[in-house]
Formats: sequence, C-alpha cells, structure tokens
Amino acid sequence: MVCSATGEHAVSLGESSETIPLAIEAREIVKGIGSAPEYAIPLLQEIQRRRRYLPQDLVEAVSQESHIPLSTLYGVATFYSQFRFKPQGTYLIRVCQGTACHVAGAALAAAVIRQELGIQEGETTPDQRFSLESVACLGCCSLAPVLMIGETIYAKLSAAKIKAVLQEYQGAAAAKEAAHGCS
Ligand code: FES
Repeated sequence: MVCSATGEHAVSLGESSETIPLAIEAREIVKGIGSAPEYAIPLLQEIQRRRRYLPQDLVEAVSQESHIPLSTLYGVATFYSQFRFKPQGTYLIRVCQGTACHVAGAALAAAVIRQELGIQEGETTPDQRFSLESVACLGCCSLAPVLMIGETIYAKLSAAKIKAVLQEYQGAAAAKEAAHGCS
C-alpha cells in the first residue's frame, strides 16, 4: 500500500477462480500452503484471497483435501474477524474513521459513499460491485480524510472526489461484467 494524495492508479479487474473445479482448486490450495492443522489460518486466508469470502463448498473441499476437520476450520474462521462468510463486492471500500480522519471530515466522506451506493458499513451493493467497511487507521493520517479501495489509497477526500472515484470504479466494474458476458 502506498499513501498518495492524488489516488491516481489503474483500477484492477482482479482475478477469478470460479472456473476451476472445486476439488482441483482445493488441491492447489492445500499443495501451496500445507495440510497440517497449524496451517488452518493460511489455508482460510488463501480461500478468502481467491474468493473474497469463505464459500462453504470450498472450505469443505479444503477440509477433505487437508484432513483438517471442518469444525477446526470453522472454529478458526469464526474466531478471527478478518474472515467473511458472505460474498464481498468486487471492490472493497475501507473508509478510515481514525482520529485524524474523523477530525478532517471522515463522517461526511462516509455519508457521501453511503448515499452514492445506497449501502451501510458492513453491506454489499445488490449488484455485488461494492462492499463498505470502516477501519480505525490506514496509516496515512497526514493525508486525511482517507479511504482505500483494494490496495489504492484515496486521500484529502471531498464529496466531488469521492463521486469521481466511485464513477471510475463503476466503469471498471461494468467493463469487467461485459468481458464476462454479464448483462
Ligand atoms: S486516522 Fe485515517 S489514516 Fe490514520
């Protein structure tokens, strides 16, 4: 992650593993990470990196492949807040609500996003394009208020800048959907 006042970047279309058969994907994951119980966290992290959440069928397939009991994997997954059980949007928007950002107007920035996307923190848009989260500090306090989409930081936010950024990602999401033949 690089803090930048401009937020200039290329919007990533991300990767998809949806076309890989489940058993093969589970084998790939376990082969790359390991199958001992102490690898439960990295295995879950890899599932989430690929799918952006923990789909039940893939967790079960990894459990079978690694011989780590399903109850162990879900015990770990429910203990750590980093793991998600519901699908996340193509783009995860993290709005900083740390002290510096709060003082610089983070509440207003969050309100603009909520209004533009029609969702609250912790929710995903019905078209699955965006998820919204609040975070404590993104480490770019001198550039407050700040938000992060994927690995890109957007700083010194204004309502106009937020709207322009969201429009850019809406365009990227539409292009991605068109490339995958979605209507
Ligand atoms: S308080 Fe927002 S980046 Fe630190």
